Amino acid sequence: MISRRNFIRNSASAIAAGLVMPSILNESSMFAHAVGANDKINVALIGCKSMGWADLSDFLIHPEVDCVALCDIDKGVLEGRAAEVEKMRNKKPVLYGDYRKVLERKDIDAVIIGTPDHWHCLPMVDACAAGKDVYVEKPIANSIAECDVMVAAAKKYNRVVQVGQQQRSGNHWHEMKKYIDSGKLGKIARVNVWANFNYAAILNPVPDGPVPAGVDFETWLGPAPKRTFNERRFHGLWRMFWDYGGGLLTDWGVHLLDMALWGMNVKGMPNRILSSGGNFAYPDDYAETFDTLSVIYEYDDFIIQWSNVAGTESGPYGRNYGLEFKGTNGTLIANRESWEVLPEQNKIEAIKSMPNFQDHKDHVTNFLNCMKSRDMNTACTIDNGSLCAKYAHLGNISARVKSALVYDDAKKKFDNAEANKLIKPNYRKPWKFPEL
Ligand SMILES: NC(=O)c1ccc[n+]([C@@H]2O[C@H](COP(=O)([O-])OP(=O)(O)OC[C@H]3O[C@@H](n4cnc5c(N)ncnc54)[C@H](O)[C@@H]3O)[C@@H](O)[C@H]2O)c1
Repeated sequence: MISRRNFIRNSASAIAAGLVMPSILNESSMFAHAVGANDKINVALIGCKSMGWADLSDFLIHPEVDCVALCDIDKGVLEGRAAEVEKMRNKKPVLYGDYRKVLERKDIDAVIIGTPDHWHCLPMVDACAAGKDVYVEKPIANSIAECDVMVAAAKKYNRVVQVGQQQRSGNHWHEMKKYIDSGKLGKIARVNVWANFNYAAILNPVPDGPVPAGVDFETWLGPAPKRTFNERRFHGLWRMFWDYGGGLLTDWGVHLLDMALWGMNVKGMPNRILSSGGNFAYPDDYAETFDTLSVIYEYDDFIIQWSNVAGTESGPYGRNYGLEFKGTNGTLIANRESWEVLPEQNKIEAIKSMPNFQDHKDHVTNFLNCMKSRDMNTACTIDNGSLCAKYAHLGNISARVKSALVYDDAKKKFDNAEANKLIKPNYRKPWKFPEL
C-alpha cells in the first residue's frame, strides 16, 4: 500500500513527466473515489463561524478527509463546531485558539482559512512555510501588499492553493466564458458589475461594550489597530470597516469582478482607476465603507464599471447583484442564478442558461484533486485571487483619496502619495508583516 505522502510525491513526479492528466481536465472524478485507506487527507479549519464552516462541510463530504483540528478565538464558536464535527465523524478534533500551534502539527496536510479578511495573510503565508496546502477565503487579503506576499509565499514554498472564489468552478460560468470567447456578442466596450445588499449598511449602531465571555478579542484584532470592543464591528459585520475589510467591493466585488476580468481576458492592471463614493444614502450609517460607490476601470478600448448601493436590494434586470457584458450584437447578463443573452435587434439568438448549483462542492473537490496530483493550477489560483482582490482595493483606494489613479504593479506605486499610504497596512506589534 502506498503511503499518503509517497502517493503525493509520486503523483507530482508523474505529472512533471507528463504521465498524469492535470486534474482540471476531469475535476470531479479523477481521485474522489480512488483513494485508499492510507490516503487520508488531514485538514484543519482556522476561523470556524460562517464561511469557514461551509467550506469544511464540503470537505467532509469526502470520506478521505479528516478534520483533525479547529482553531478559533471565540470558544463558543469553537465548541459548537467541534460538536458538529464529532456528530458527523464520531471523532472530536483538537481545539486551538492560536493558529501557529495548528501549523506546528506535522500530520496536517491542508488548512482552510475562514477568518476575516485582515486575518488571511499571516496564517496563509505561515501555512505555506510550514508545508501545508491552503484553501483561503476571498478576498485573499485586505491590502495590495498582502496580496503580493501571499502570491510569493505560494510560489516560494510550492504549495497548492485554492482561493474561495467558487464561481470559478461553476458550470454556468464556464459556459458563459465560452460564449463570450465565441465573439457572438460583437465588440464588448463596457462591462457593468453591481452589488446592492442591505447588510452593508449598519443602521443600528450600539455603543462599545465589554468583550463577550470566551472571546480573545486581542487576537481577533491581531495585526489591526487596537480598539475597544463593539458588537457591530465583530462577527460578520467587520466587512464594513477598513481595518478588517473593504465593504461590498471586496465582499461581492471579488466574485463578480473575477468574472468580468476572466470574461475580458484581463491579466493585469487597468490604465486608470476613477472612483467616487461615500455614505450618501445613509449618512448615519455606522459602517466606514461606502454605501454608495462607483468605480471605472479604464482600458485601451473598453471599460469595466462597478457600482454598489448598500442598504438596498434591487438592481438592473431585477437582479440586486450581477454583471453585464454589453456587446454591439447583444448584452449578456449573469449572476449565480443564471446567465442570459438579450439580443440587439435580433442580431443573435436569445439564450438563458441555468446553473447546477454545485460550484462550491466542485471547487472543494478540485482542490483535493490538485493536492493529490500536486497540480498547482487549481480552479482559482492565488494569482487569480490576487488580481481581483487588488482590483477591489484599487477601487476603494481611489474613492478614499478622492482621485483618479494610475497604479504601477511592477513598481508597486500609485501616482499619488496619499494612495501609496494605503498599499500596505502597518501591522500592530507583536505581529510582523511577512518578509519572504
Ligand atoms: N466564498 C464565499 O462565497 C464567501 C462567503 C462568505 C464569506 N466569505 C469569506 O470568508 C471569510 C470569513 O467570513 P465570515 O462571514 O465567515 O466571517 P465571520 O466573522 O462570520 O467568521 C470568522 C471567524 O473567524 C474567527 N477568527 C477571527 N480571527 C481569528 C484568528 N486569528 N484565529 C482563528 N479564528 C479567528 C472568528 O472568531 C469567527 O469565528 C471572509 O474572508 C469572507 O470574505 C466567503
